[in-house]
Amino acid sequence: METILVTGGAGFIGSHVCVELVEAGFRVVVIDNFVNSTPEALDRIASITGERVHFMEVDMTDSGSLDEVFLTYSIDAVIHLAGLKAVGDSVINPLRYYLNNLSSLLHLCECMQKYHVHRLVFSSSATVYGPPQHVPIKETHPVQTENPYGRTKHMSEQILRDFQRSYFPMKIVILRYFNPIGAHPSGLIGENPTGVPNNIMPYMTEVAIGKLPVLQVFGNDYPTRDGTCIRDYVHITDLAKGHVKGIEAIDSMEPSVAVYNLGTGEGTTVKELLHTFEHVTETKIPFTITDRRPGDVAVSYADVRAAERELGWKATKGIEDMCRDAWRWQHRNPAGYVKN
Ligand SMILES: NC(=O)c1ccc[n+]([C@@H]2O[C@H](COP(=O)([O-])OP(=O)(O)OC[C@H]3O[C@@H](n4cnc5c(N)ncnc54)[C@H](O)[C@@H]3O)[C@@H](O)[C@H]2O)c1
Repeated sequence: METILVTGGAGFIGSHVCVELVEAGFRVVVIDNFVNSTPEALDRIASITGERVHFMEVDMTDSGSLDEVFLTYSIDAVIHLAGLKAVGDSVINPLRYYLNNLSSLLHLCECMQKYHVHRLVFSSSATVYGPPQHVPIKETHPVQTENPYGRTKHMSEQILRDFQRSYFPMKIVILRYFNPIGAHPSGLIGENPTGVPNNIMPYMTEVAIGKLPVLQVFGNDYPTRDGTCIRDYVHITDLAKGHVKGIEAIDSMEPSVAVYNLGTGEGTTVKELLHTFEHVTETKIPFTITDRRPGDVAVSYADVRAAERELGWKATKGIEDMCRDAWRWQHRNPAGYVKN
């Protein structure tokens, strides 16, 4: 049985990745410092899978603690998700983002080299593409980052390329996520934002449950079919399965760095998402149209053919599943991860 280290495994994406890994027969070791998550997520993973993941509380900016992880466990491969991710906050606190996201990655690379662990899946973001020059966006699209968070992802990708060039056995898969939403169908794990959510789905579910009064739709004068932005939403369990495919594909890969988009390849407007949510959950979402948000692009969706061809991965769930599952999670856990 192979052992996979999942950094940031208590987070939104990490918890879903852990479930898929356990169900695919891997032994999972999670590290997290809970800067944006809670230990309860790990209990919920156990409730879903019937197995506890191994866990060490580690801040990856502390290289000594990370070293301990590699001394304690014999790691076969790493999925690196730990990071800070709020775009707006990264503009206000850029140094915190550079320090956290880059030093975590550098320490991880050092450990991987020291302990001869040669397989890495890294979570990057479609934000690295900046304003699209064409859609669907291929992995070869030029990169242009517009905020400190995005730049940490772009810089991380560059660091990984340089690392691989200098340390030949490394096999690295970079996954650029589009817009992961939804929750595990059990309703036991999901997105658990603190404060006012930055992303549309948790915002919408919090309005639906009465935590927030009204959904703000940022702009309705974009050149799209109904004037609202078009995004490529992908179900979180599909996205999580993409990581399992990534780990499996690395085995037969030549030492190199490969980049894959994870999305559905289809664009949905904000209003379409809103109406689908209202329809499948039989709720009413009050909304107001406000000004465009600086930095938002009109249309963004992925070309997903490379992941399909080379990883054997394709999203299977649609917008309705994403809305239904996000609502189930919110409805059953109105206060997020508190012990039942
Ligand atoms: N959610 C998205 O829409 C999205 C899109 C593109 C890329 N990503 C990337 O995917 C990854 C996971 O995102 P998420 O949505 O699950 O976020 P999240 O905040 O829910 O999860 C990140 C986890 O990393 C942990 N963490 C952060 N810094 C750490 C450190 N120094 N040491 C140990 N643990 C640390 C946090 O406590 C959290 O549990 C991030 O790297 C994020 O940038 C997310």
